[in-house]
Amino acid sequence: MILDGTQDASIQAAAAALQRGELIGLPTETVYGLAADSDNDAAVAQIFTAKGRPSNHPLIVHVADADAIMRYAREVPVFAQQLIDAFWPGPLTLILPRLPDAAKASTGGQDSVGLRCPSHPVAHALLKACQQLNPPVWGVSAPSANKFGRVSPTTAQHVAAEFGDELLVLDGGACEVGIESTIVDCTRGEPVLLRPGAITRDDIERACGQRPLSKEELPAHTPRASGTLLAHYAPNAKVRLMDARQLKAAVEILGQDAPPLAIYHRSPLRSQARQLQLRAMPNQAADAARQLFSDLRDLDALGVPLIWVETPPDSADWEGVRDRLQRAAAAG
Ligand code: TXA
Ligand code: MG
Repeated sequence: MILDGTQDASIQAAAAALQRGELIGLPTETVYGLAADSDNDAAVAQIFTAKGRPSNHPLIVHVADADAIMRYAREVPVFAQQLIDAFWPGPLTLILPRLPDAAKASTGGQDSVGLRCPSHPVAHALLKACQQLNPPVWGVSAPSANKFGRVSPTTAQHVAAEFGDELLVLDGGACEVGIESTIVDCTRGEPVLLRPGAITRDDIERACGQRPLSKEELPAHTPRASGTLLAHYAPNAKVRLMDARQLKAAVEILGQDAPPLAIYHRSPLRSQARQLQLRAMPNQAADAARQLFSDLRDLDALGVPLIWVETPPDSADWEGVRDRLQRAAAAG
């Protein structure tokens, strides 16, 4: 059931559902989340079941404000505080050392916790309403509201299509950012970028004076983040990434009767193939991010077996989109 997230009655109904241990669909500025009370282990367990997600892949705990982090985090390094001051509320998740008894089910037993304070007004209103319940709900765990490994949802309708009409989904419109939050690991003495997003490496460096390491640069790296698995964000169609020149050459040699194919491109293309479905990728990174997952869903819905995608530029602002596309391609 989709409820208008701008109505106070909808917010109260969703907060009450969370307090009862139920799941809800929650809009954020990045993507929609499948949410449960972080401190209710049984409710959090239902998220893993509904998504088909392995239980050792930790969830992000969403909080209404920076004050709430001390209910979950043991300490906040100076550089992490600078990132909070610069980017919260907003599309940034920080991995911090965890308080021993907090959000156990969400963190898969790790000694760290992922925390994020979203800026979406509906998410904010819900988190505030949760704090005012008796007893309060201080943290809301929410992975992206899609089945494990699939494309993340950026509208309430995407969530309902994935989880059915039974789920209460707050409608907050189409997500502004469109790809998941930037994740920075703050447990290693210096910032480590685990997942690129709208807040870029350059933004992080400007805010805390340290350029974040990539996880590949860590001495002994063990992958801990599911959004960081190579094959992820996968539509049903096979995705193949090609640079502009390769793509142009490949499209030009297609004959009139070439099999059905979708193409997601930025450079101009010409072809005589009759069953070609062309879709333009926006020219600005932020616009491309906003459109990315819904475009992938639309292209997939055409039923084509193959989507050829033009590789985005190699600059810091495109890193999030590039990353999602590389992982969608790796899944094929
Ligand atoms: O934008 C977002 O972050 C969205 C919205 C709903 O807030 N959420 C989201 O959640 O993308 P999910 O579960 O799809 O991705 C969360 C990522 C996963 O890769 C997870 O492994 C990582 O965060 N993560 C969470 N807690 C962690 C921890 N303690 N250590 C390392 N990685 C962690
Ligand atoms: Mg996800």
